[in-house]
Amino acid sequence: MTETKETTGEELSRRDFLANTAMSLGLIASLGTGAYFGIKTLVPAKKTAKFTDVLVGNIKDLPANSAMEFIDNQGRKAILVNNGQAVKAFSKICTHLGCEVEWQAEKKHFFCPCHEGFFDANGKNIAGPPPRPLDEYKVTIKDDNIFVALKEV
Ligand code: FES
Repeated sequence: MTETKETTGEELSRRDFLANTAMSLGLIASLGTGAYFGIKTLVPAKKTAKFTDVLVGNIKDLPANSAMEFIDNQGRKAILVNNGQAVKAFSKICTHLGCEVEWQAEKKHFFCPCHEGFFDANGKNIAGPPPRPLDEYKVTIKDDNIFVALKEV
């Protein structure tokens, strides 16, 4: 008789344990789901930028060591440079305080006259106060036509 009571007590304990465990797991799952959707609601979704290739010139008009200016779709001055190895496109806005850089073909670098900043032919800041390279656009050449990837606005 005593043995039966102990067995019943153990079974109840197991049932209680299983019930408590199931309720705890359910509660954790509910809280996790609530937290996920709560955070998802508060944090704005990341917008992936879309780019469009825009025709800006022809390689026949851009011999080695030459440059050609264009205006991007946001009205900013930009420049194509054929550095002899590749055609690159950069913003003409200096990364120091926003003056306009100029391509110096004879020295194969960009120069910012405001505070004597220098960028190499790959747009990398090499001297003076500019803290980072020039903003660069992705360039694609198809059938001698030069396309620049511009962010859709
Ligand atoms: S704005 Fe170009 S170096 Fe200062």
